[in-house]
Amino acid sequence: SVSSAFDFGSNLYPLSQTAAGYAPLGAPSLASLDRHHGLIDESLEKNKSLTYLNGLSLIVGLIIGSGIFSSPSQVVANAGSPGASLVVWVVAGLLAWTGAASYAELGGAIPLNGGAQVYLSKIFGELMGFLFTWCAVFVLKPGSAAIISLIFGEYLVRAVVGADSENVNPWINKGVGVLGLLFVTLLNCVSTKLGTRIGDIFMFFKFIALVGVTITGIVVAVTGLSSKGNASQEWKNMNWFEGTSSDISNMAVALYGGLWAFDGWDNTNYVTGEFKNPSRDLPRVIHTAMPLVIMSYLLANVSYILVLPLSTIEKSNTVAVQFGGKVFGPVGALILALVVSASCFGALNATTFTSGRLVYVAGKEGYLPSMLGDIGIWGSANANGSRLQRRSWAHKMISRAFGDDIGIGYTPVNAMLFNVVLTTIYVAVGEFGTLVTFYGVAGYSAYFLTVLGLIVLRVREPHLERPYKTWITTPIMFCCVSLFLLSRAVVAEPLQTLIVLAFTVAGIPVYFLRIYQRDGKTELSRWKFWKPW
Ligand code: ARG
Repeated sequence: SVSSAFDFGSNLYPLSQTAAGYAPLGAPSLASLDRHHGLIDESLEKNKSLTYLNGLSLIVGLIIGSGIFSSPSQVVANAGSPGASLVVWVVAGLLAWTGAASYAELGGAIPLNGGAQVYLSKIFGELMGFLFTWCAVFVLKPGSAAIISLIFGEYLVRAVVGADSENVNPWINKGVGVLGLLFVTLLNCVSTKLGTRIGDIFMFFKFIALVGVTITGIVVAVTGLSSKGNASQEWKNMNWFEGTSSDISNMAVALYGGLWAFDGWDNTNYVTGEFKNPSRDLPRVIHTAMPLVIMSYLLANVSYILVLPLSTIEKSNTVAVQFGGKVFGPVGALILALVVSASCFGALNATTFTSGRLVYVAGKEGYLPSMLGDIGIWGSANANGSRLQRRSWAHKMISRAFGDDIGIGYTPVNAMLFNVVLTTIYVAVGEFGTLVTFYGVAGYSAYFLTVLGLIVLRVREPHLERPYKTWITTPIMFCCVSLFLLSRAVVAEPLQTLIVLAFTVAGIPVYFLRIYQRDGKTELSRWKFWKPW
């Protein structure tokens, strides 16, 4: 049977439970506290309530964010031709699809919380699990939040200054991005539930934006563009594959761009345990969600190519604004700028929520300083309520608007502050292209190892109960393609690969230090960190 993905209580410390005699920090009350402050969604936890359609919208909503409105430039610029860039989008989508199917199998076979960290610990030993968390805390989570903030900033600035202002100071974009980030963090610090509810509202915008772009593109293409004379005629006598890059490393960089837009597929297993009928519905959800996203991304890209000259797509991180401006004029540009920044805002909100939780759990688990596992402002919240919860007029107003039990102050504030500081640093030093590649190298290293683990598990424990089983070719294909991708990154972006590697290696001594403090010398000398459990 599959346990609930939100069932923190029994599974929060799967690693430490196996380390004999180790009592995790604050373990006994944690599950109830979680439930109380809304880190666990009770309704989800109690009844397995997800239907096929719920799961579908959840996964599609997790995947669509900033990428389809920002990555096309990186893809086109590196693939070299419109035809090749469409091929890159298909390959990226298929890779994400095989990855999602593989993760779904793992989620069913190892029905514990914690995602890749738990799978890696179970299959390769605790060190690997630790290194994943380490990477996620310092690279993956703040890196992805930084990318989304940047795109949020660029689109919002475009909404104010207009589509054609190419020479906005990048620091203004970055500043606006960080402001959005701070706002979202504040929201999530006040109340987790408030954050998720506002997130739900913003979910609609991404659908509107994407559907808007694709339908407009099709209409424009069918009606022949020329009536108003305001769209690119370039495509009419375009050679789709002319200029295709012959450099494989460039193709890899283009792929990283596409993969960013499909990222989030690894979240499929968060919903594994919530289905009424997981073994029937989970594969159905994945095998409709992924093709759906692939199709809509392809259509959006075709729309961009039909409407805009290649040179414009290549240069701009805000291709949807240019698109709107070209088809509908300034008002269209404004609307698309607003809708896309709203979509990014929603994505930023979701990321902030999960980052907070990840850092919080790492703090609780003893992987990071324990104050990161505190709840409330400087750990002020307890089971009787935070000061905010009990006294403030703000609480009364908010709970009147959003319902009681909104759980003000019951949030992992320190964890979120930690995350927002890291993210801001990434925003300051990075820009879209470098961050996307950086994120891709780190992310696909982790995905590769995890999916490799699936294959190892098939061999080692063939009789393990698996509610959902993919074809074995699926993980094998995923591993081959991501290995290729990673090997090219070493050539294409040596510096970024090195930084990711250095980050990971730096985690190893930290791990031994934590284990030493936790379990003492004897445990350390038993080399158990290599052993699966
Ligand atoms: N695909 C999303 C986008 O285009 C990125 C998702 C970030 N990944 C994540 N696990 N939160 O913005």
